[in-house]
Amino acid sequence: MSILKHHSKLERNATVLLLASLAVVAIGGIVEIAPLFYLQNTVEEVDGMRPYTPLELAGRDIYVREGCYACHSQQIRPFRDEVERYGHYSLAAESMYDHSFQWGSKRTGPDLARVGGRYSNEWHVQHMIEPRSVVPESVMPSYAFLQDKVLDVHGASIHLIANQAVGVPYTEDMVANAEADMRAQADPDADTSGLQERYPKVQIADFDGNRRALTEMDALVAYLQMLGTLVDFSTYDETAGYR
Ligand code: HEC
Repeated sequence: MSILKHHSKLERNATVLLLASLAVVAIGGIVEIAPLFYLQNTVEEVDGMRPYTPLELAGRDIYVREGCYACHSQQIRPFRDEVERYGHYSLAAESMYDHSFQWGSKRTGPDLARVGGRYSNEWHVQHMIEPRSVVPESVMPSYAFLQDKVLDVHGASIHLIANQAVGVPYTEDMVANAEADMRAQADPDADTSGLQERYPKVQIADFDGNRRALTEMDALVAYLQMLGTLVDFSTYDETAGYR
């Protein structure tokens, strides 16, 4: 009874009620948020994830620069219709090296989280030059200029160092070889053994079909072709994580 009596006092005094409510909400908030600061890792690790190669990273920058995210998401939600259309739903670990992430919910065009390997390099180049030449009803803008823009390779190692600063585990070896790796990935004749060792599952090709120059088109297509290809879902068990 006496507790109820005290409570009626609380309810009749607006200031005290407000302060008491704030205290209760704050305790609830701290209980939810504080553990996140002490957990080593809030993202379940998954086999196969590696940092982007310098060429893929440059492609990702072009993707962000051109605002592709305004029409494309990179996050397959765990709903049946999405999984049937795009493939296995996205795992948190798949975007752990993304700064900033490209999830989004705006889909004027399809989700791109697993577009890697769905089309040939030639298809991508043609689609970027003139989307309506391969998908007649497309409303996507043309990005033909990318095939004429020579890729800036000199910033490669600095780009990796910047990502290191925010926690991407690029090694000194990766930083030292950044520029060479960037060129090698787009050159099927290059010695790519070091590149392949540093970045497992790296796809090596003359992505834009132009042997004379390393262009922004090379970088963007290299990036698109690796999206969603690193984790092997044939060995991934939803209920138990990795077996
Ligand atoms: C104005 C909205 C818009 C923008 C901006 C846009 N796209 Fe698209 N995109 C679309 C639409 C609509 C489609 C579906 C029709 C088609 O395939 O062209 C599409 C399709 C695609 C596809 C094929 C996906 C699939 O699964 O079939 C890729 C790859 C793609 N876009 C990449 C890009 C990239 C890279 C950029 C930035 C350089 C970009 N898009 C910018 C609207 C857009």
